[in-house]
Amino acid sequence: MICTPRLSILPLEPSDQAAIHAKNCFPEVAKFNTIGIPKSIEDTQKLLAPLFEKQQPEKGQQLGWVIRLKTDNAFIGELGMRLSTPKYNKGEIHYSLLPSHWNKGYATEAVKALLHYGMETLNLHRIEAGVHTQNIRSIRLLENVGMQREGKHRRILPIGGKWEDNYSYAILRENGIQ
Ligand SMILES: CC(C)(COP(=O)(O)OP(=O)(O)OC[C@H]1O[C@@H](n2cnc3c(N)ncnc32)[C@H](O)[C@@H]1OP(=O)(O)O)[C@@H](O)C(=O)NCCC(=O)NCCS
Repeated sequence: MICTPRLSILPLEPSDQAAIHAKNCFPEVAKFNTIGIPKSIEDTQKLLAPLFEKQQPEKGQQLGWVIRLKTDNAFIGELGMRLSTPKYNKGEIHYSLLPSHWNKGYATEAVKALLHYGMETLNLHRIEAGVHTQNIRSIRLLENVGMQREGKHRRILPIGGKWEDNYSYAILRENGIQ
């Protein structure tokens, strides 16, 4: 478990699937996501299945966590990290919260903790994130946690029948984490 002042960040369990499905069904959560709104709980189960196969932090795999409030243990969102092969020693993060818990600093608190976990516990050299160029909330979050924009991928995200642009962000262990 990863702990922050207000949050418990726990490895994803099969019993979390319904809460993640409900979150992913909010149009504002799906808006900048290539997965879109799931048609059924089965879609969400297929999406999450690789995360239950291996939950040890070995290289070359996907890791998933749920974010819960320490006060009442309520589910508020999800964090993930896809690890590279050992040679590249990097991870790519993603995150998403229930809209009722936006704008309270929870996402920033959770992502900072995930960066610390990646750098200090997993000893990663570099952590990356991709973000739709119009996802202003997510861009602010990435810049607030110290990630730097490294480039723009043009028309790379298939969303709602169109090709959309994506920024790539990263932070290096040698730069330190706030
Ligand atoms: C992206 C996402 C996680 C961002 O969440 P968020 O709620 O905007 O993030 P936070 O609450 O951490 O930060 C938002 C603001 O809350 C402020 N805030 C409010 N109360 C706060 C508190 N008690 N402590 C700290 N910050 C607080 C922060 O300062 C920040 O403001 P700023 O951007 O002006 O500096 C959220 O919009 C989301 O889940 N979107 C859908 C999925 C998605 O797009 N994921 C990203 C894919 S790349």
